[in-house]
Amino acid sequence: MSGPGADVAEVRAWVRAARRLVVFTGAGVSAESGIPTFRDALTGLWARFDPEQLATEAAFRANPAMVWRWYAERRAAIARAQPNAAHRAIAALERGGARLAVVTQNIDGLHARAGSREVLELHGNIMRARCLEGCGDPERIDAKFDWRADPREPPPCPRCGSPLRPDVVWFGELLPQDVLARAQRAALRCDLMLVVGTSALVHPAAGLPMLAREAGARIVVVNPDRTPLDAVAAGVLRGAAGAVLPELFEKPG
Ligand code: APR
Repeated sequence: MSGPGADVAEVRAWVRAARRLVVFTGAGVSAESGIPTFRDALTGLWARFDPEQLATEAAFRANPAMVWRWYAERRAAIARAQPNAAHRAIAALERGGARLAVVTQNIDGLHARAGSREVLELHGNIMRARCLEGCGDPERIDAKFDWRADPREPPPCPRCGSPLRPDVVWFGELLPQDVLARAQRAALRCDLMLVVGTSALVHPAAGLPMLAREAGARIVVVNPDRTPLDAVAAGVLRGAAGAVLPELFEKPG
């Protein structure tokens, strides 16, 4: 299971000794919940699309019904999915008293559903919506409405009647600056960052592990495949998150 650098026993000791721990996750942590990674999500009807043709404001304005339907299908799949052993192990570690922040690129909400409390969602959450024209409070309105309503059309904003849009970060959009600032602060203050299930290619999120490392933290990668961070990691644990994390976090015998 271990790649270059420290092995699982050493990393387990680092986890136990960490004063502040950040678990930085991407789509791979939800793969064992059956949720396709972002790029795999373009299967079936959507296979002929490029993500940038669907996950942009321009695409939504040009064809709100089509983009809304793609998100409605993904939302339905996510609602049926369950947190997996990786999400549960992270939540259990936090409950056990670790000073732990989860910083995720995922929009599926599974960390919170597994019981994690300190979760920073850099790319938003597919179960939330906000007004396309940004009316009302400057950030977002978490419109509480029945997603199961007509999944073919975006519902109107309850305040101004403009279409609602998924409260996720689309290509070319800024990340929620308050969330990013909290994630950067967590990266600068942690002494260990576990980088789990991300290709670490999409910035600014992918810059967080290097920020932590430059501030003196150890970086440990958990991924069945290679990533650009392997070369700078203090440890690389080659394996699926659902197998590696429960073993990594298990209490001493
Ligand atoms: N356990 C751990 N890692 C896994 C598993 C698993 N079971 N299965 C796959 N992986 C790894 C893959 O090897 C890959 O490195 O998860 C990573 C998934 O990479 P991406 O699909 O690129 O997802 P992510 O890194 O989260 O993408 C970042 O890019 O597409 C945008 O906004 C989107 O949030 C997304 C961002």
